Amino acid sequence: MFSHEEVVIRAGERTGLPVLVAVHSTTLGQAVGGCRVNHYADWRDGLTDALRLSQAMTYKCAIAGLDNGGGKTVVALPPGHVVDSRRDLLHDVADVVHSLGGRYATAPDVGTGPEDMAVIKERTPHVFCTPTELGGSGDSSPGTAAGVMAALSAVCAYLGKSGLKGRRVGLLGLGHVGAHLARLLAAEGAELLVADVDPAKQALADEVGATWLGPDEVVTAELDILVPAALGGLLTEELVQGLRCVAIAGPANNQIASPSVARMLHGKGVLWAPDDIVSAGGAIYAHAVELRHETPAQARARVAGIADTLSRVLDSAEQAGESPYFTAQEFVRARLEGASHGLAR
Ligand code: PHE
Repeated sequence: MFSHEEVVIRAGERTGLPVLVAVHSTTLGQAVGGCRVNHYADWRDGLTDALRLSQAMTYKCAIAGLDNGGGKTVVALPPGHVVDSRRDLLHDVADVVHSLGGRYATAPDVGTGPEDMAVIKERTPHVFCTPTELGGSGDSSPGTAAGVMAALSAVCAYLGKSGLKGRRVGLLGLGHVGAHLARLLAAEGAELLVADVDPAKQALADEVGATWLGPDEVVTAELDILVPAALGGLLTEELVQGLRCVAIAGPANNQIASPSVARMLHGKGVLWAPDDIVSAGGAIYAHAVELRHETPAQARARVAGIADTLSRVLDSAEQAGESPYFTAQEFVRARLEGASHGLAR
């Protein structure tokens, strides 16, 4: 079923690269979601990503209580493609975003950062997270990482554990958010096992005193908590069979390949915290600072609220005897249905 409001696929005027913008929903307000610049075997794989990720943004905003809908941009680079003018690429993105007339605003994501948002802002105002000197809320990854830490504290509380000290935590992915997490988790005294597809990231593992392993080894290790912080689609039925962790909570988007995986995790007794809740910190922070004009401290307090949101979802899932995946979906449905019709188009 096609559940999106609008999908734009345009060859960038300057680069000819496929710029894909998916607006999933504006029911709660302007759609927001990051701009992912990534290599794909086929641009259609980029489209699939944009469709899934924009829907995840609708869920993320709805559960986090934001008055925003969900959208996402993907620039699908062909395999091995080297971008010669990043500025041209970003202006191509800006023009497509601008053509949507404010129904969607973009933000950083995998492959982009605040400096890129500043370039996009040269051609459209519909962009979050430009550097603070330019009036934006800056890098969204510390906010996302802080939200994950809040979620992990809720997971510990739910499991009846006092905190992360001495817990065996497997962290998969040391990108922007993952690198912050490695440092925060090490500071909490967790016993850390980490992996990344980029061997150069081992330096960070050494710096924080983490054990460096292969991605498969981290995922299947005996762990208290597995923290997926790499690209999505990690949890498949096949992979779940080999898991030896008590809980899974991390910022990677779209972790679960299909609803049956959520059922399987539940059946196996592995607690899974829905990524739409865990990963919302960056969006919550940007929203608070840029739209509510709150101070960084106030915005951080909102991000910390992820712990409460997650606890509520875990508790009602337990009462219903079902996976938190389905409970979270119920929360989203209730919020979207409660929104008055014809809002914020
Ligand atoms: N790209 C991040 C996310 O998907 C951060 C972000 C989104 C920041 C939307 C602001 C607005 O959550």
